[in-house]
Amino acid sequence: MCGIVGYIGDREAQPILLAGLKRLEYRGYDSSGLAIILPKKNSISIRKSPGKISMLERLVKNKPLSGSVGIAHTRWATHGAPTQANAHPHEDCRGELALVHNGIIENYEELKAQLIKEGHAFRSQTDTEVIAHLIEKFYHDIPLEEAVRKAIKLLTGSFAIGVISAREPAKLVGARSGSPLIIGVGRNENFLASDAPAVLASTKEIVFLDENEVAILSREGFKVTDFDGQPVSKKTVRINWDIAQAQKNGFAHFMLKEINEQPRVVENLLNSRIAQETNSINFEEQHIPATKLQNIKNIFIVACGTAYHAGLVGKYILESVCAIPTQIDVSSEFRYRDLLIGPETLVVAISQSGETADTLAGVREAKKRGASVLSICNVLGSTLTRESDGIIYTHAGPEIGVASTKAYTAQLTALYLFTFYLAEIRDILSPAKISKYLFDLRRIPKQQELILKEQNNIARLARRHSHLGSFLYLGRKINYPSALEGALKLKEVSYIPAEGYAAGEMKHGPIALIDEYRAVVCIASASKVYEKMVSNIQEIHSRHGKIIAIVSSGDKEVVELTREVIYIPKVEEIFSPLLVALPLQLIAYHIATKRGCDVDQPRNLAKSVTVE
Ligand code: AGP
Repeated sequence: MCGIVGYIGDREAQPILLAGLKRLEYRGYDSSGLAIILPKKNSISIRKSPGKISMLERLVKNKPLSGSVGIAHTRWATHGAPTQANAHPHEDCRGELALVHNGIIENYEELKAQLIKEGHAFRSQTDTEVIAHLIEKFYHDIPLEEAVRKAIKLLTGSFAIGVISAREPAKLVGARSGSPLIIGVGRNENFLASDAPAVLASTKEIVFLDENEVAILSREGFKVTDFDGQPVSKKTVRINWDIAQAQKNGFAHFMLKEINEQPRVVENLLNSRIAQETNSINFEEQHIPATKLQNIKNIFIVACGTAYHAGLVGKYILESVCAIPTQIDVSSEFRYRDLLIGPETLVVAISQSGETADTLAGVREAKKRGASVLSICNVLGSTLTRESDGIIYTHAGPEIGVASTKAYTAQLTALYLFTFYLAEIRDILSPAKISKYLFDLRRIPKQQELILKEQNNIARLARRHSHLGSFLYLGRKINYPSALEGALKLKEVSYIPAEGYAAGEMKHGPIALIDEYRAVVCIASASKVYEKMVSNIQEIHSRHGKIIAIVSSGDKEVVELTREVIYIPKVEEIFSPLLVALPLQLIAYHIATKRGCDVDQPRNLAKSVTVE
């Protein structure tokens, strides 16, 4: 996610803005910038640069800006590569306004087209710049906040913005809908920020803006209204987090914060990809022609680690929904195989970072053989996306924890959407059936929230098993990949040997492992193979294995065999991996923290394996 900092007061804004941006670096970004009102000229000056904040510091060192009202931004690119032109702040045509933005404006293309028709000249490829020109369009003989309110009412999507105007230099305006924004309350100075770390050096008095609120800050104080201009009374809270805690939004670790972000990530992805009225699925960067996708004969998924497990789920859904033969292999094997692929093959490369060396090598092999490459990726402008024919961005925001959590469920969500998109263009599913699937998919974020409401119980259950020396994870069909992913999560953050297995394979060896010193995590949610899972659990129970079971609410059979049960809401089997993932992540997290492991930076691991 991007970072916003705004300042209005009696001190020089530049050093305060830069210090605030540095406190937001942990959020991940690929460019930064700031804008300051120059009081002598009543104009706005902007400095911005791709790359690290140090590049911006060098810029302002050579050409400093003096003024006491300004805004600043670190950008995590979603629309438009990380370039100087696309970095924030963005201006209106006359350079009278400057604006920074977090979030995604889903209807920016149509707004931009209309504004261009009305004579507005754009300098960037971003969705953000549209907001600056929209405010300009209304900003005649009305105060800035009124023009902002008129503009944001036309936006669809998520936003938190900060705006300054050379015409009203004693004002800083903010607004939020779907993306956090706070006010830092000081003495004869006030701050705007995407979250608390940016302002804690100056004040711990914070006002958290709620959905659809507009903030108008001056040196002396602030006002908050709703989007219709009606005043809203807000309370100031004193937060006692230190900077490190604040960067995790109060969570103990980034991994726990990112586990809890998943309902929002999935919801934002669904909202940005499914048109509300028509239920049609769209991918703005997916440039492989529909005619090509209608004629592919087979699919080959290539990925590593957690992304590979997402791909395994993808194989199940692509074959069961689209009846397209789908192979999958880990990138490090795929790249050395005698690949029987060609122009009739679609290769789907899944990678959070877009920089995994083996996956890149696999994609290059695939392209040599004439296959089309679709990447599912979280980092805009990453190497993988630049070498793909089509891209589906997961827009999960930067994933700071090395163990992948929100990126995994975002990859799954992208795979479901792509599967239904393929089924639509290949006339495999009726519109009614697709609508039913999308209806069920849209319910997932709320169902994930229900699971997260139980995380304290899951934590207690996990800690009761944290002393055990090894774990076995068992699942069937679409939750066999879930078992693999659950085992990987535990391994990488707690260093406990853990193995994921197809439950039906237990009799072919692993059953020899079952004893009272080992926990067996069984994924036994409602499915066509539920009774088979119950049999597996009975076999484990009769050998005194320690059973942890993930079951659907209302389960009657498994609960007779073990008291260590985690309930998930009942969903169609096809969507269960999106729910099962959360308890598996929480089990790994709480066992690892109980054992004193560094869950955000596990030993020996890198967030992106850019070497072979
Ligand atoms: C996941 O928890 C691991 N950190 C790791 O397996 C990761 O999924 C793998 O390295 C692939 O990374 P990528 O998605 O960036 O390509």
